Amino acid sequence: MSIKIIIISKLEETRLKVAAALESEDIYIAGQFKDGASALSRIESVDPDIVIMMLDTDESDVFATSERIYMNRPSSVVMLITKNMDVDVLQRAMKAGIRHVIPWKRESQYLIENVRTVYNEESSHRDALKGEQSLGHTSKVITVFGSKGGSGKTTIAVNLAVNLAKKKKKVALIDLDLQYGDANIFLNLETNDTLDELIQGYADFDIDTIRNYMKTHSSGVHILIAPKSPEYAEFITREHVEKLINIIRPYYDYLIIDVSASFDDITILAIDSSNLILMVTGLDVSILRNSKISLKVLESIKQISKVKLVINRDSKGSISVSDVEKILQCPIAAVIPSDWKTVGTALNTGIPFVQNVKRTRAGAAIDALTKEVIEFRPVIEKKEEE
Ligand SMILES: Nc1ncnc2c1ncn2[C@@H]1O[C@H](COP(=O)(O)OP(=O)(O)OP(=O)(O)O)[C@@H](O)[C@H]1O
Ligand SMILES: [Mg+2]
Repeated sequence: MSIKIIIISKLEETRLKVAAALESEDIYIAGQFKDGASALSRIESVDPDIVIMMLDTDESDVFATSERIYMNRPSSVVMLITKNMDVDVLQRAMKAGIRHVIPWKRESQYLIENVRTVYNEESSHRDALKGEQSLGHTSKVITVFGSKGGSGKTTIAVNLAVNLAKKKKKVALIDLDLQYGDANIFLNLETNDTLDELIQGYADFDIDTIRNYMKTHSSGVHILIAPKSPEYAEFITREHVEKLINIIRPYYDYLIIDVSASFDDITILAIDSSNLILMVTGLDVSILRNSKISLKVLESIKQISKVKLVINRDSKGSISVSDVEKILQCPIAAVIPSDWKTVGTALNTGIPFVQNVKRTRAGAAIDALTKEVIEFRPVIEKKEEE
C-alpha cells in the first residue's frame, strides 16, 4: 500500500523538487497544485493521506487551505514545509490545525522519512479515534532472550518491532544489551542520545525526557539506543531500568527489549518485567545445551510460564524442529529459516528485511511470529492475599 500525497506550492520549481525528492515505491503523488483553491476538489476526490504545503510566498492561502482540510477532511493530514521555522509560523500552523511542521531540506531521504513517520503516527491516531487502540492497560512487554551470543536476538527483536509497527501498533524498542548493543545498526540510526546519556543527564526522567532521547525509525518504532561504548554501561543500574520500563510501558502497545546473552542483573530485570519471553534457540547441540540450562534457570526464578521458543536458522540437518520441542519441552512461537542473503543484506543496508517489498522466507517467518505475538494474551497474575 502506498502513501497518497498531494503537493501544494506557489512555485512550480518547488513542487517539482518536492515530487522528485519523494520518489519512492511506497509513495504515490496524486497531484501537484499551485494553491488551495485548485487543490481542494482533487483532495475531495482522491482523499490523500498527506497534503504537503510549502510555505513560500502567499502565506494566507496556506493557512486558510489547511484550516479547511482540518475541518472538512480530517482523514487527510497537512504537513507544512518551511524555510523559516519561527514562533509566529508555528503558532499560525497550530491555529490552522497543522500538527506537522518540518524545516525544508533538499535531501530526499529526509523528506521520505518524515512522510513515513507522519503517515504512521496519523494512522495510529485514526485507529485510536475508531476505538481500535487501548490506553496502555494491555501493553505487552516482550524480551527477546537467548543464552548464546550471535543466536539472532537482535535480528528478531528489530524485525518483530518493525513488523508490529507496520500493523499500526505503537512500538518501543529498548536496547538493553548495555555493553555491545547494536539494534540501531540494524535500523541504520545513529545518535548521541543514548540510554546512558539520558540517565546521566536526568536523575529524574519522565516520558517526555525519555521521548527526547528516543529515535523514531521510519516504520514508526521508537528506539532507545544502547551506550556507544561498553564502559558507559556502568552508569545504568537495575533501578534505572526498572523505572524506565515502568514509565514507558503505558504509552505503547508493545515494548520490545533486546538483551545481551548473559543472565546479568539487567537481563533478569527485563525478563521479570515481561509478559512474554522469546527465547532464541537453534538446531545445533551447543545452542540446545545452553538453552536447556537457561530454561532451568528461568524455571528456578519462576519465569518459565512466560517462555516461548523461536528457532532460528532452521535448515535441513540432523536435528529437527520436533527434536527441539522434545528436548526443550517448551512451546514454539516461530521457526525462522537460515537465510543469509536476506538477513545479511538487511544488516548491511540497515533496512530490516520485513520492509522488503519482495516477500522473503525470513520475512514470512517474522509475519508468523508477529501473528503469534498479537494473538498472545498475557496471563494476568493474581496478587496473593496477604
Ligand atoms: N535466520 C538467519 N539466517 C541467516 N543469518 C542470520 C539469521 N539470524 C541471524 N543471522 C545473522 O547472525 C548474526 C548474529 O545475529 P544477531 O546480531 O541478531 O544475534 P544476537 O543474538 O543479537 O547477537 P549478540 O549476542 O551478539 O547480541 C548476524 O550477522 C545476522 O545477520
Ligand atoms: Mg544482539
